[in-house]
Parts: sequence; C-alpha cells; structure tokens
Amino acid sequence: MDTAPLRQLLDEMTIDEKIGQLVQLSGDCFGGGDIATGPAAKIGVTQEDIDRCGSVLNVLGADEIHRIQDAYLAKSRLHIPLLFMADVIYGYQTCYPSPIGLGCTWDPEMIEGDYQVVAEEAHADGCMVTFSPAVDVVRDARWGRVVEMPGGEDPYLGSRFAEAMVKGFQQGLDEGQGVASCVKHFAGYGAAEGGREYNTVDMSERRFRQDYLPPYKAAIDADAKMVMTSFNTVDEVPATANRWLMHDVLREEWGFDGPLITDYAAILELMNHGVAADKDEASKLALDATVDIDMKTDCYAHSLKRLVEKGRISEQQIDEACWRVLSLKNELGLFEDPYRGCTTSDAARAIMCTPEKLSSARACADEAMVLLRNEGQVLPLAKEGGRLALVGPYADSKEIVGMWAIHADRSHSCTVKEAFDAVLGEGAYVYAKGCDVLGPEEYGTLGEFARFAGGGEPAEDQEALIAEAVSACADADTVVLCLGEHPLQSGEAGARTKLRLPAQQQELVRRLHDLGKRTICVLFAGRPLVLTDILPYADALLMAWWPGTAGGEAVADILFGDANPSGRLTMSFPATEGQLPLYYAQFPTGRPAGKNHTGRFVTGYLDAPNFGLYPFGYGLSYHTSALSDLTLDREVLHPGEELHASITLENEGPVAGTDVVQLYLHDCTGSVTRPIKELKGFERVTTESGERREVSFTITEEMLRFWRRDMTFGSEPGRFDVYVGLDSQRVLSASFELEA
Ligand code: NOJ
Repeated sequence: MDTAPLRQLLDEMTIDEKIGQLVQLSGDCFGGGDIATGPAAKIGVTQEDIDRCGSVLNVLGADEIHRIQDAYLAKSRLHIPLLFMADVIYGYQTCYPSPIGLGCTWDPEMIEGDYQVVAEEAHADGCMVTFSPAVDVVRDARWGRVVEMPGGEDPYLGSRFAEAMVKGFQQGLDEGQGVASCVKHFAGYGAAEGGREYNTVDMSERRFRQDYLPPYKAAIDADAKMVMTSFNTVDEVPATANRWLMHDVLREEWGFDGPLITDYAAILELMNHGVAADKDEASKLALDATVDIDMKTDCYAHSLKRLVEKGRISEQQIDEACWRVLSLKNELGLFEDPYRGCTTSDAARAIMCTPEKLSSARACADEAMVLLRNEGQVLPLAKEGGRLALVGPYADSKEIVGMWAIHADRSHSCTVKEAFDAVLGEGAYVYAKGCDVLGPEEYGTLGEFARFAGGGEPAEDQEALIAEAVSACADADTVVLCLGEHPLQSGEAGARTKLRLPAQQQELVRRLHDLGKRTICVLFAGRPLVLTDILPYADALLMAWWPGTAGGEAVADILFGDANPSGRLTMSFPATEGQLPLYYAQFPTGRPAGKNHTGRFVTGYLDAPNFGLYPFGYGLSYHTSALSDLTLDREVLHPGEELHASITLENEGPVAGTDVVQLYLHDCTGSVTRPIKELKGFERVTTESGERREVSFTITEEMLRFWRRDMTFGSEPGRFDVYVGLDSQRVLSASFELEA
C-alpha cells in the first residue's frame, strides 16, 4: 500500500496494538514447536500479548505459516499480518557449507547465487526475514561462533561476503521473491574477551570503526532490511542499550531506517549486565537506543505503556518504532498477501533439494575445502590399484552439516563412505569407524543439547574401536581418516580453550601412522584447530569444515582429484592456543619479531613460535603456481587517479587449477600506527597447466583511507607498500608515494 494509508493505519492503532508490533514470540506461543536458540525460560506473556504480537521467531513450513497467520488474522482488529522470521543461515533444506567454509571459497559471486537458492527454498516455506548474515570479525578461534563468520578475521573479506549474502537473499524482494536479510550481531560480538561467549568487548573507537564495523556497513549499503543487536557491551554499554551505536552510528551516520531487533532476550539481560534495575528501565534503555523489536521477552509487552504513562518515554518513540515494523511488512507486500507467496508444504517440497540445487551445493563445498598439507603429493588418490581404508567417526556420518542446519534434509546427503562407494565400488576398500567423535567424558560436557547432532552417545570403550580399525587396516597402504569436532563444540556457546582433536581421535591417527600407512586426515570442524599434535602423523590434511548436504561427494571430489582444491583460509591457524588472538593484520611494534627471531626483547613468546601454523589466505592445490614481475604503472598516486599493480601468475602444473591472488597494502608512516598488511583486493584466477596470466589490481586513494589521529576518515600522503601473494605471507612487494 502507499505511505498515506499506512500512516492512516498507524493513526488508527491503539497504543497496545502499536506496542504489540514491537514484540516477537516463538512458535510455542502459537501452538507450534519451539526451536530453542536461547535459554528456554518461560516468559510471562498473556494470550492478549500473543494475539497482538507483531512477529514470530523460528516457525517455518508453509502449512504451519498458513495455520498461524489465519488464526491470528481472524482475531486481529486491524488485520495487520504477522512477520515470520527465522534462522536460515547457510541453507534451508539444501545446505551449503557453514559460513567459515563459504568464506574459504573467496568467491562472493558464487555465494550470492547460492544464497538466492537458499532464499528460494526458505521463501517457499514461509520465511520472510532471515537472521543472516552474521558478519562479526573474529580473531580468536576459541570463540565458538567463528563457524558462522564468512569473512573470518578480515574486515575487507567480511564486507565482500556481507554484500554478496544480502544481495543473494534479497534478490527479487520487490517482486515477492527472496527473503529480507537481518544482518547481525551489531556490533563487535566477535571480539569477546578471551573468546568467551557473550563476554565483554572493549577496544578503541578507532579500531572498532576500522576493523569491526565495515562488514555491517557493507550489509547496510547492500540494503539489508533489518539489523540485530549483539549480546556484548561496547565501551561498557551493552549493544542493546547503546544509543551511540544504534542511533548515532547506525541510523544517523549510516542512514539505516529499518527495524532493529534485539538478539534473544537481550533486553531482559540488560539487568544481568547491571545497567538496568528492572524491566521498565531495561525497556526504556533499549527503546531510547531506537531498538524496535524485543525478541522473546515480555519487557516491551509489559513495560512500554507504563513508561509512556509515566512520561519516561514518549508515544512518538513507540510510533516511530511501530512505523518501521509496519513499513517492512508493507515493503514485503504482507498487506496484499500475508503468506508472501508461500502456498502449501507439498508445493514447497517440490522445489527443495532439486538436482540443480544439490549440484550447486556440491560445487560450493568443492571450493570451500582447504588443503593444508600434502606431503609427497599423496593426494589426489588413484581410483584404481591402491589398497585403501576409510576410517573415522565422520567417515559414514551425515552429521557433517553443522549446528545451524536446522532444516537440512539429510535424506539428500550422502556420507563420505557412500561417495567412496560411488567412486570405487562397494567392497573395493576397507571401512572401520575407528572411534567416536568424542569420548564419554567430553560428550558429557555438551549437556542436553548433545543429542541433537554428532551421532549419539559414544561407546565406553574407545580403545576397542581403535584396535578394530588398526586390524582392519592391516593390508591397506593408504588410510583416509574422517575426524573432527562435535558439531556443538562450535557455534553459539561453543567457546573452548583446547582446540585440538579429541584424545581418542589423535590416538587413532598415531596408531595408523605407526603401521606405516600413508595417512590422510579429512577434518570436519567449525573453527581453526590446533593441529600440531597430529602433524607428524598426517601426510595430508584437508579442512572440510561443515561442508553441507553435498559434503560427502565433495570430499570424494577432492580426494580423488575430480576437483582441484582452491579454498584458502580466512583465519590464521594457531600453532598453540596460547597464541590467540591471532591474525595477519597485526600492528607493527617498537620491537618486531622476525619469522625466525625468538630471542628476548622482541614481540613474541619464549615458549611458542611467533607465527601460527598456517597463515590467513593459505591453501594448497594439486597444481603449484608462482608469481613474478610485480610492477606498478606509476610511482606517485594523487587523489582521483588510478594506480595499476600487475603481476604474472604461472601455473607450473601438472593440472589446471584456481589460485586466489591477494592484494595487501601497508601505509608505512601515518599519524597513527597502521597494520603491517591489510587485504584490499583479491581475484580467483583459473589457469591451465603451464599457462601464464597477468593479473592486475587497481589502487585508488579511497582504498588508503583510515580513521586518522583526529578521528577523521581520510588518507595521509606518504609511502605505501604493495604486496601481492598467494597467501598473506608469501608475497612480492613494491611501493609508491601518495601525494595530496
Ligand atoms: C541467538 C543467536 O545469537 C542469534 O544469532 C539468533 O539469530 C537468535 N538467537 C534467534 O534464534
């Protein structure tokens, strides 16, 4: 409808009805199921609150959406439809790799297309808004939610994926297609101290703006329709109560005028944070910060009217918040079609997991996997003539889709073993489970949620499983081991201090290696792991992440050479947990450490290397490539001009393959210290064996801007280093001057 009738609708609403639009409740309130994505506390809402509420959390399924919407509208005085919002993170029924894997593709164009597929499936089953993408920059792998972050440790990469994902989700939104994207968790959630979930975030405003805010900004610039607040504090004020962040930065500076929703129960938690004494105060703080929708508490429902009556907030504030919610409903066409094109569950089923969708998930998983090690070129494996064994708790498991794959249709997944059967033929190799993902003790630490994924309760006697595998592998010459974390060891509340493989998995690798077998480890995990313990026993290491519905086939594609690995790391892999946080874009210090410099009086440790095990941007392929002849077409750059950096990439064979050529810049002297390297561009380049290709990057003055000493955003004249490499460490360099 036009703006005028929408305004008129707002004018006709009672204050209770307006407040209702600011409340989000979950499926259990509507006689449906409850997908628990937060503490399962009972909230004190009444039937009246339910009848007035504006949106529903995590209910999907076309038939269910119709049932709830119809019952709600039948009671509704003004017939304002409910908005259905859900966590559709990296797939609906067809699942793509989890975002940490998606990021390793360094292929935002492909991901934009894949997210259109995700949106198409979710839309058919009634999803109107998705709580995705999460674009929190993260430099500490102890934090469990690294699994959800496509940009990993890097703001530039994060921005490129934020933009791609929002565009993918929202493709065709005006024509009733796609789903609205809610970017989260605003802001800085990934910088939780010590990697501890929900913990304090505290840093300089310069760093916050420079390194943490850009991906959210990129999502807003790509027209993300909603924003979700984060659980953490920013400068000692919880984000949900932080008017500077929500109003001054997000709305005033960035021009965002859509609805702002809290994360799960975050208004109530303002009391735990110690900034509000009661629900009234918590509600006032959030509304004053221009937070519009209260997810899953009764704070707004029961406090806002009283606050207006007492004159502590104005009715105009409620009108403005309600207007933003109504405007989104209107933009999504709900007043014309309250189901937004979703018809029946049967009709929805027909478009799920089609062969095209499954093959796009497979292509994506092929690109997401990162080959970390390939000693003696043990990979790719021959399809004939070898004596192969397939071992490990993930070898014949469908639990390789990760913890957010709530709606994944596992009937379309095949396990690694099933994929091996398809390639080699059943019985052409030996299989043994080897051990469980976790031993009984570690499994116990996951609590009641453990049963949701990961193959159930572990056996008491892990040694018996190991011994069985060792004897099954006696005649094999090569063993492929499918190992990893439990899906719930990463994700929300998945913070850990020990990032190594569980003890019995390590023991399995050692024992098989000791038999003299070539040992290939395929790792399923949601974070960078500390791999130093298994390194001496692993001839090859393939990081498969949580590869999604087509993960089994993709592992086989890579291992048998039907796909040449091209994934590159988005997070540095530590050599030991004590190095965390770890990232390539360090600031210089007065006493920098060299690669082999571990002496005293340099920035580093006495008891650990100064560098991680595998750097940002790293990954191997079945071909090798070399870069040469980095040239700049000018020595001096002025604002408004372009400088071109070109380099020759040579595929040295033996096969065709794809490299990610990466551009990093460094401002040598500034009014504040500047990172030693910052990613500013990249290109995926595919070459034939023996082919040479020139790759070029454009550098402009805009790319050299930063938050200067006086907190203005701009560049400073002086010398800049240009680095181009195949990862963040193996680079060629040149330099130029920026003149005013
Ligand atoms: C809590 C999580 O932090 C957030 O990412 C998610 O979208 C909400 N719960 C809703 O399920």
